[in-house]
This record gives sequence, structure tokens and C-alpha cells, in this order.
Amino acid sequence: MKLLITGGAGFIGSNFIHYWLKKYPEDEILNFDLLTYAGNLENLKDLENNQNYKFVKGDICDSNLVSSLVKDVDLVVHFAAESHVDRSILDPSAFVRTNVLGTQVLLDAVKEYDKRFHHISTDEVFGHLGPDDPSFNEETPYAPRSPYSAAKAASDHLVRAYHITYGIKATISNCSNNYGPYMFPEKLIPLFISNLKEGKKLPVYGDGMQVRDWIHVDDHNRGVDFIIQKGKIGQTYCLGGKDSEVPNIEITKKIIKLMGKDESSIEYVKDRPGHDRRYSIDYSKAKTELGWEPVIDFETGLKSMVDWYLENWDWVERCKSGEYQTYYDEQYGK
Ligand code: NAD
Ligand code: DAU
Repeated sequence: MKLLITGGAGFIGSNFIHYWLKKYPEDEILNFDLLTYAGNLENLKDLENNQNYKFVKGDICDSNLVSSLVKDVDLVVHFAAESHVDRSILDPSAFVRTNVLGTQVLLDAVKEYDKRFHHISTDEVFGHLGPDDPSFNEETPYAPRSPYSAAKAASDHLVRAYHITYGIKATISNCSNNYGPYMFPEKLIPLFISNLKEGKKLPVYGDGMQVRDWIHVDDHNRGVDFIIQKGKIGQTYCLGGKDSEVPNIEITKKIIKLMGKDESSIEYVKDRPGHDRRYSIDYSKAKTELGWEPVIDFETGLKSMVDWYLENWDWVERCKSGEYQTYYDEQYGK
């Protein structure tokens, strides 16, 4: 099989390419990525001499390029997106362009050449939950609350609309918060590991009691594999973590403990505007229909993530040079 992976130089996409070529070494992967601030070919440098791996730099909004690439593959797995909520609050425009327009451009090519398409989406499209609300599932109405999640919701609607209207062979996964190797240091867990290592404060938004349902990136990518192999065309599958609903302040304290530091580094700061309170995923459809469930518990996964980050500190430092510092100063103040 020949796969086109959009956004394969980002956090989840690069882990997916490693996962896929390890499991299916005969398959061919074409990684198509614009290399925005979040795209990093260093994540894939061990594949440079692999005959079954190729990289093309380009924009998913470029319809001619997209069309020429989609034509020659069997399957498109669409990871490419602007993915960070705080950046979407600072400037939503790139989010609408890439996440909505870019997805529509890909869908047009998929429709033209009748290719299988899997769309990677997020649980944030469902809005947020109170402490006692039931978990999100595939029937939960869409209620996005940030520019990021609104743009992802729009892309999901387009995928469903193209399936219904034109019969494209598409599936969607809505996954919760990922963590793991190659995670860009702007998101909670990697930001706090790197700030602690550098002796900086840990900026906890609001009261720190917001809850996320953390899933190790390997569990997510295994779930995507299950959907590609066994998922029903036109269906959506929710993927979530293994008993991993944890308030932010608890994660912060766990990271501090794992790194042998003390809690004086915690700094409560102004809350994120429109901050979603709680995400939680009911993955029973994926479990019943596909036989998938997450296997990595949060304690084990978090420890391995901290270890990976510290062992790959050169990689982290290179991510934090350049554009990152400008964003950091704008978001957190100098
Ligand atoms: P990321 O920001 O680390 O990577 C995104 C990648 O897309 C980068 O390599 C970037 O260069 C590329 N890209 C951006 N705009 C592009 C364009 N116009 N054309 C081509 N490439 C472009 O993101 P991630 O965290 O790996 O997320 C990947 C996907 O998974 C996204 O669709 C995101 O919405 C979804 N998702 C993420 C999480 C999470 O916790 N990170 C959870 C659920 C779903
Ligand atoms: O739920 C899936 C989503 O998870 C993905 O679709 C997004 O791409 C991904 O970025 C993530 O979104 P979140 O907003 O949940 O992740 P983030 O790591 O930005 O924040 C996690 C929680 O930590 C959230 O409640 C905000 C809080 N936080 C975050 C940062 C960066 C802080 O308290 N301080 C911070 O500095």
C-alpha cells in the first residue's frame, strides 16, 4: 500500500510514520508537510535512507500539488493542521486556512481519484464537560468553543458532507490529548518539563483544575491503524486514554516529582479565554467494533515522556530556538 501522510513532520504524524513503517515495512510512505514552526524533519532523520519513505515539502492548500500527490497513493491519512489552542486565540486566520480550506482541497482530490481518506480530528469539537457529565462519544453534538476547535469541527463536517454527497471513502477519529516523543514544547506537558529543566516558572492557567483525558501517542496511532484496517466507511470513532483523566495541577505536581524538583516553581497565571473545563472520551465503539483499547497507563507514559525529553534535550533546544521564543514572549510575557 502507498500512503500519503499530511503533517507527517509534526508530533503525531511523525510518530505515526515510525509506527507504520515498523509494522508494515513493505508499505510506501509519502510525507507531505509545509514545515511550519511545528514541522521538524529531525523527527524522521532515521528514515532518510529508507527506500519506502519520501518527503515532499508543500501546502495542503495548494490544489495542483495536492492533486498530483493524491493521484498516486492508495490512502491519505490527514494529520496536517494548526494544532495549538493558545495560538488560535492569538490569531485564528491560519487555523481557518489550513484546517478548513486545506481539508477541502484534499477532499476534492480524494473525490477526483476515488481514494480512501482518514481524517485525524480532536475531542475538542464536542465542547467541554462538567465534572459529572457523561463522557463524549460519537453521538455527542458538536459545540466547539475555541477558534482551533471550531476550525477542526468545520473540517469534520466537510469530511462527512463529502462522504454523504459524493460517496468518498472516509473515516474520522476524534482523539483526546496526546503526549509522547517529539511533542513540540508549547503544550502543557512538554512545556512544563522544559521550563523545569531550565529553572523557569510553570504557568498554570486559572485554578489548574481543568481536566484532560491523556492518551499516549502510540495508543492513538494504533487506534488509527485499527480504523484503517477495520473501520466502516462513513463512520467516526472516538479514541481516548487508559484511565487518564487528570487535572492540570496534578500533572504539574507529577512532573515536578518525576524531575526531583519542588513546587515553588508553580505559578498560577491568568486563565485561557474560553478555557474548556473537562474532556473525557468514551471509546466503547472503537473497543466493540474494532477491538481497540488504549494500553499505556498515564503514570508509565508520563515517566517515559519525561525520560525521553531529558535524553533528547538537544532536540528540545533546537525546537525552542527561532520562532518559538517570539511566541513564548507574546503568550507568557518576557
Ligand atoms: P503539530 O502541530 O505537531 O503538527 C502539525 C503538522 O502539520 C506540522 O508538521 C506542520 O508543519 C504541518 N502543517 C501545518 N500546516 C500545514 C499546511 N498548510 N500544509 C501542510 N502541512 C502543514 O500537530 P499534532 O499535535 O501532531 O496534531 C496532528 C493532528 O492531530 C492535527 O490534525 C490535530 O488537530 C490532531 N489532534 C491532535 C491532538 C494532540 O493532543 N496534539 C489530539 C487530537 C487530535
Ligand atoms: O483534546 C485534544 C487537544 O489537546 C488537541 O486537539 C490539541 O491539538 C492539543 O493542543 C490539546 O489541546 P489542549 O488545549 O487541551 O492542550 P494544551 O497542552 O495546550 O493544554 C492542556 C491543558 O493545560 C489545558 O487545560 C490548558 C492548560 N495549560 C496549557 C499551557 C500551554 C496551562 O495551564 N498552562 C500552559 O502554559
